[in-house]
Amino acid sequence: MRILGIETSCDETGIAIYDTEQGLLADALHSQVALHADYGGVVPELASRDHVRKTLPLIRQVLADAGCPAGDINGIAFTAGPGLVGALLVGCAIGRSLAWAWNVPAVEVHHMEGHLLAPLLEDDAPAFPFVALLVSGGHTLLVAVKGVGEYEILGDTLDDAAGEAFDKTAKLLGLDYPGGPALARLAESGDPARFRFPRPMTNRPGLDFSFSGLKTFAVNTMNENTGENTDTAQTRADIARAFQDAVVDTLLIKCRRALKQTGMQRLVIAGGVSANRQLRDSLQANAKKEGFDVFYPRLAFCTDNGAMIAFAGALRLSAGERIGLAFDGRPRWPIDTLNALAQSG
Ligand code: KG4
Ligand code: ZN
Repeated sequence: MRILGIETSCDETGIAIYDTEQGLLADALHSQVALHADYGGVVPELASRDHVRKTLPLIRQVLADAGCPAGDINGIAFTAGPGLVGALLVGCAIGRSLAWAWNVPAVEVHHMEGHLLAPLLEDDAPAFPFVALLVSGGHTLLVAVKGVGEYEILGDTLDDAAGEAFDKTAKLLGLDYPGGPALARLAESGDPARFRFPRPMTNRPGLDFSFSGLKTFAVNTMNENTGENTDTAQTRADIARAFQDAVVDTLLIKCRRALKQTGMQRLVIAGGVSANRQLRDSLQANAKKEGFDVFYPRLAFCTDNGAMIAFAGALRLSAGERIGLAFDGRPRWPIDTLNALAQSG
């Protein structure tokens, strides 16, 4: 079965073709970073319009790259949520319409399920069950995963998502959008011994997160340490490092707790923040020490992409899932309301 995947939930147009026998055949991404850069963040209306411009040309491109005539596509998968509703509707409308025109089935994909399953595209794919840490711009979730669609939320964020905390703190440090990768780069030249930020909600039981206090801590630290005779550039780098240390440490503590609580021995991390080198290294080092295995997607599939949507859609279409002719974008869509796939587990 050959599936065309369409991702337009936020600021990236991602298109891919996944073949259930041959694997990933083609994948293309158009990033809107340049479009939103002047505004310091994603402007939803501009995002939607850009998806309108880019989706069909990218679909033509991946079909050509895969050497796959449109008639060889057996199904279409598109992200239906969660995300920006206008952006989602572009992918939903194009995906559903093409499926109708080509007379093939269509399926809605949950964006975070796409992230969660992305490590299964790799050669050393994790077996079920596993604990997944999903860390993106909009979500911070710890999920017990028994199979495809069998998701129990163990922990959630009470305020900012991990990626959002990176982005907001980056902005406070004067860094350009998108802030996460920029802050991570700045942290490389920071002194880890100069400041120590709190590890929020780690000294009480439970698996929920709260990251919004860290950005206040960053502002206060900045204010207390800038003056005429100070090296502001170095202070910014030191704050970036202390902030990143705190986020990574907090995520690590909660992951270990989740593994202990569930008795599971495999940890998957996915979503944009899983591209963070320090987070990957720290989890890897701990895994070795404590005897659990950790799995990530390749860097290009940590952030938004069409491959994860084509793949999740292929699993669901293969299991017989389909939607009717109506479609809708869902800005909010809890991951634990998805259907379990019969043959998973
Ligand atoms: O998964 P994603 O591409 O989009 C959403 O579904 O939100 O995640 C984007 C988020 C942004 O907040 C971005 O700053 C963050 O992931 N991010 C990073 C890194 N790369 C992306 N955060 C920290 N370090 C990185 N290297
Ligand atoms: Zn995402």
